[in-house]
Amino acid sequence: MIDRKENAPAAEPERQYYFIEKVKEYVQRESGRLGRPLTANITTFGCQMNARDSEKLSGILREAGYEETGREDADFVIYNTCTVRENANLRVYGRLGVLHGYKRKNPHMKIALCGCMMQEATVVDKLQKSYRFVDLIFGTHNIFKFAELLYTTLMSDRMIIDIWKDTDQIVEDLPVERKYPFKSGVNIMFGCNNFCSYCIVPYVRGRERSRDPKDILREMESLVADGVKEIMLLGQNVNSYGKNLEEPMTFAQLLAEAEKIEGLERIRFMTSHPKDLSDELIEVMARSKKICRHLHLPLQSGSSRILKVMNRHYTKEQYLELAEKIRKAMPDLALTTDIIVGFPGETEEDFLETLDVVRQVRYDSAFTFIYSKRTGTPAAVMEDQIPEDVVKDRFDRLLKEVQEISKEMALRFAGTVQTVLVEEKNSQMEGYVTGRLGNNHVVHFPGGEELIGQLLKVRLDECRGFYYMGTAEE
Ligand code: SAH
Ligand code: SF4
Ligand code: F3S
Repeated sequence: MIDRKENAPAAEPERQYYFIEKVKEYVQRESGRLGRPLTANITTFGCQMNARDSEKLSGILREAGYEETGREDADFVIYNTCTVRENANLRVYGRLGVLHGYKRKNPHMKIALCGCMMQEATVVDKLQKSYRFVDLIFGTHNIFKFAELLYTTLMSDRMIIDIWKDTDQIVEDLPVERKYPFKSGVNIMFGCNNFCSYCIVPYVRGRERSRDPKDILREMESLVADGVKEIMLLGQNVNSYGKNLEEPMTFAQLLAEAEKIEGLERIRFMTSHPKDLSDELIEVMARSKKICRHLHLPLQSGSSRILKVMNRHYTKEQYLELAEKIRKAMPDLALTTDIIVGFPGETEEDFLETLDVVRQVRYDSAFTFIYSKRTGTPAAVMEDQIPEDVVKDRFDRLLKEVQEISKEMALRFAGTVQTVLVEEKNSQMEGYVTGRLGNNHVVHFPGGEELIGQLLKVRLDECRGFYYMGTAEE
């Protein structure tokens, strides 16, 4: 193994292309021996960032000759994990048991784990002790090395573990296999420097690093040349993009450059931290023909006292002011948010402040989360963790409010004609397709598969709570 590695180039991404070839030789040999293709399966947990990472894993597996399958009893199975809340974490352990059963029947099967959960030492310890059947474990910082790690695993009978604490490296130009031909995510930055006191992301994704704008725009252009119409720019806090580049650039400036890409129809982005959202961004958005009228602006809590302990760097009043400014500049924009209930020390009064913001801002939709204690974060050791029954009661009240408002807000677009990107065949209604509006709402309307990937004018005939029924205009 080591002998063969001596020929491997030291520079990236060349080194990884070398190992892709090596894996390819292995795949050809094995599938010849077995008389069938080798299969691979990827399961993704967590956010858009992880979804994009999985497309990179997929690109390498395909390039190496694996056939992707929806079945988990494949020859190579990988879980790209999330650990933002404990339940994401628990689901992985539960499903590993099932994988073990498959592996007993197919001893050639290799099981790999990567992603955010693997950056936690306690997780890796537990896997090493109680999940010996796992073949490969790596983290978020060295995902670019997947081809090399895969090859090492295939050539070995031992558990391979490679976790980096952090990195400042960004490796460009590795293969990517998109899930959708017509839309794609593009990373503009990695990591997070905000250290919100409840959040584990900065610990598992490392320090904030912005990609060079030239690389981002080049990737966007080549995606468009390949048929992509909608691109979502990804980062934990896109509003702080570019601050640590050699030639600093703002996120709004990056958007303005992206707008110029011919053939690109829609631009989205995730996520915006309220503390860094500039007037310049609002102006660029309001002027733009391509940036979707959707802004995800996580609130987390409506209580200024709690926001301070959360380390969010804004008050209730500042948030409300910002939301109003955005609504004024773009009345047709959909505003969505994330809210946590049951943060340590949250009183009924604090919770009522959150409800108050929800009522004032009137979100088009909101993700609501029960606070989850993450070991290693400051909030985990704060006194006054809230009893489960109290949190559950607040959560239910919040959810009810959020859902009622979302339904009312959706009504404001009923009867209008909107541009829709057709995404898929409707799985429930024969002869229907499903598309997405710029504001991220979903509409079902009669049409065939050939419409997938097209932008169409669709009349929103009826609002059914969280989605619309419509008809294509022509
Ligand atoms: N970078 C993004 C959020 C990424 S995590 C931002 O700042 O908006 C996505 C969401 O998960 C967060 O907005 C938060 O609402 C939720 N979340 C993060 N840590 C959590 C925890 N410990 N318990 C419950 N929800 C959490
Ligand atoms: Fe977590 Fe806050 Fe960073 Fe978002 S901005 S990833 S919530 S630390
Ligand atoms: Fe989860 Fe990691 Fe995303 S913890 S939410 S997958 S950055």
